[in-house]
Amino acid sequence: MSSVLKRSFGIKQGVFGSFGSRYISTTSKLNYAFAFDIDGVLIKGNKQIPEATRALKLLNGDNSSNRRIPFVLLTNGGGVTESQKAEQISELINVKIDPKQVVLSHSPMQNLAKKYSDKRVLIVGGRGRSCYDVAKNYGFHEAVTPHDIMHWNSSSWPLSTPTSDLSMLTNPAQEFSQLPIHAVMVFHDSFDWGRDIQIMLDALCSHNGILGTRKNDYTVQDVPLYWSNVSLLKFPFCFFTDFPAPRLGQGAVKVALDSLYKTLTGKNLQSVSFGKPHAATYQFADQVLDAITTEKFVGKRNVYAVGDNPAADIQGANGYGWTSILVRTGVFTGKDNSKEFPAQIVCENVEEAVEKVIALEEGKL
Ligand code: G3P
Ligand code: MG
Repeated sequence: MSSVLKRSFGIKQGVFGSFGSRYISTTSKLNYAFAFDIDGVLIKGNKQIPEATRALKLLNGDNSSNRRIPFVLLTNGGGVTESQKAEQISELINVKIDPKQVVLSHSPMQNLAKKYSDKRVLIVGGRGRSCYDVAKNYGFHEAVTPHDIMHWNSSSWPLSTPTSDLSMLTNPAQEFSQLPIHAVMVFHDSFDWGRDIQIMLDALCSHNGILGTRKNDYTVQDVPLYWSNVSLLKFPFCFFTDFPAPRLGQGAVKVALDSLYKTLTGKNLQSVSFGKPHAATYQFADQVLDAITTEKFVGKRNVYAVGDNPAADIQGANGYGWTSILVRTGVFTGKDNSKEFPAQIVCENVEEAVEKVIALEEGKL
């Protein structure tokens, strides 16, 4: 934590005791914004974190000046559209969230849609065909999924059965022996690791993306691979699970795939990763903040990133030059600060974080 922040927070807390909307000035120039992690900051499992509602209402203009402070929700979760996530969170915390404010793990990958709009890409992960729907929505017009490949040739992964639910398929009559796969994109957790790893390997090891073929020389990787999130573990209170010990996440599939590729080809598998703590995700979120802000920012904008996971939220924010705020309502529950990825500010919860930042920023005037 910088000495300026430390001093400001310390002094303000000492003088005012607590911080509230009365410190928002109507004449102030807007030069700050927030990025909130979701799991462990706003919600826990499928329940709200109580302080989240007041924190977001305060930013939405429920303050003495009716001023709105811009914020985005920046999560490594995904597997649904931004609209679906906005709806889920709005219901859970009782604050209306606009889909434009939601940055999911795969949201920055929509920028790839220009390059691949008419090229067949394999979209991996998620329940049913939910990630296919997300990909189509982003503009990947030729998206396909492992379900399609299993339906084309059930021997492609003989250890599980192709779905009999035809609505899971992107197009019931896809042909894979002639048309190539141009890229593999993992949008979310795999619901069938064996099948998905096998089919991803098939595409990555194929001659020019034609499934069922094999390259002779693995020096150059023909089929690019993209990951929306490479967190190794999911923590007990994420949207998916409340099991008391961490579960394997998308990053664990990456470890398995990288290792198998190396074992089978002797080469390192190249890939591009999105999601926190990767800079591409922060650049995308920065653009979203620009787009949703009606009141023009003045000067350099301070973005306060509130998160519970030091390795994802704090490392990412520190690396991108945002002000990191670690809360104790999720992954991190320590007394002081994270030793591995120390945050600039540590607060009990999101409400305290918002109140302190508003007091600090408005006090600057
Ligand atoms: O699957 C990981 C997810 O639960 C993390 O979400 O909002 O803490 O980045 P978030
Ligand atoms: Mg979190």
